Amino acid sequence: MPKEKAIRELEDLPGIGPTTAAKLKAAGIDSLDKVAITAPHELAEISGISVDAAKKAVQAAQESTTLTYETGGQFYDKRKQIGKISTGSKDLDELIGGGIETNGITESYGRFASGKTQLGFQIAVNAQLPREKGGLDGNVLFLDTEGTFRPERIESIAKAAGINPEKALENIMLVRTLTTEQQILSLERADKLIQEKNIKLIIIDSLTSLFRAEFVGRGSLGERQQKLNQHIHRLQTLSDKYSLAAYITNQVMDNPGIMFGDPTVPIGGNIIAHAATTRLYMRKSKEEKRIVRLVDSPNMPEGECIIKITPDGIA
Ligand code: GTP
Ligand code: MG
Repeated sequence: MPKEKAIRELEDLPGIGPTTAAKLKAAGIDSLDKVAITAPHELAEISGISVDAAKKAVQAAQESTTLTYETGGQFYDKRKQIGKISTGSKDLDELIGGGIETNGITESYGRFASGKTQLGFQIAVNAQLPREKGGLDGNVLFLDTEGTFRPERIESIAKAAGINPEKALENIMLVRTLTTEQQILSLERADKLIQEKNIKLIIIDSLTSLFRAEFVGRGSLGERQQKLNQHIHRLQTLSDKYSLAAYITNQVMDNPGIMFGDPTVPIGGNIIAHAATTRLYMRKSKEEKRIVRLVDSPNMPEGECIIKITPDGIA
């Protein structure tokens, strides 16, 4: 057998030529790491090669990728560097371990008017505060997919937080996205903006609404999930690479399979469940009160707290 050449890109994998590589890239499998974690039958389906050939390609990709190991202690040191954005509510901050964390994705889901967007506005302001005041001393990239961004709200919240309202608005880079294509691109092209503008928080409000609107019907579910997967992975990568916080909002639907208890489940299924580090379920209570439930967190117990949506923001 001839000596194998080093595998650096998709085209270097056995059985993967430029055409097959292009198909994989179009489907979002654009790196050796991604090939390494793709099931052979899925790879075969996407690219049209045989399952056997796909098995060989996946195996070669797994062998080619380099993993770096670190000790638990090194990892813990890194954890201590993690920044936190105060939500404006002491109780909510405590519930989630100090605030919305960097290097991870925080998701809020709930019905309309449950406060998901308002919480986004609050942290878009608070992220700009100095670290000792519950901020990250940074700016914000805000993807508005529903047209519900309200500069007036940012103004009131900023005033209450002691930030110049015009400055606060100046520090929020707003993208109004009308299609999933635009939404995906906004993150794909964000590297330069993040570095130049010192972005420390990315908000996607909402992550799922355009995907739901564009991919209707059973037949398109696979494509929707695959695009959503690609998008949220990109968010994870940015969050890790630039040590920034990510906040996404999500709608809910009724799961008819649940007979007892609350039938409300977030959209997007496992893809989002796995990607979000912290999940918050928000519910309307009396008047300005909202109940926030911590559903999933790697290091905090589940629990609930009550917040208020006031003219000055979250309290
Ligand atoms: P959807 O996007 O529709 O799914 O809902 P959401 O969860 O994003 O709701 P949002 O965060 O926009 O919350 C809306 C609620 O916030 C309203 O019902 C109001 O009760 C409250 N709210 C919005 N603006 C103000 C305000 O200026 N003052 C006060 N006190 N409450 C406000
Ligand atoms: Mg909203």
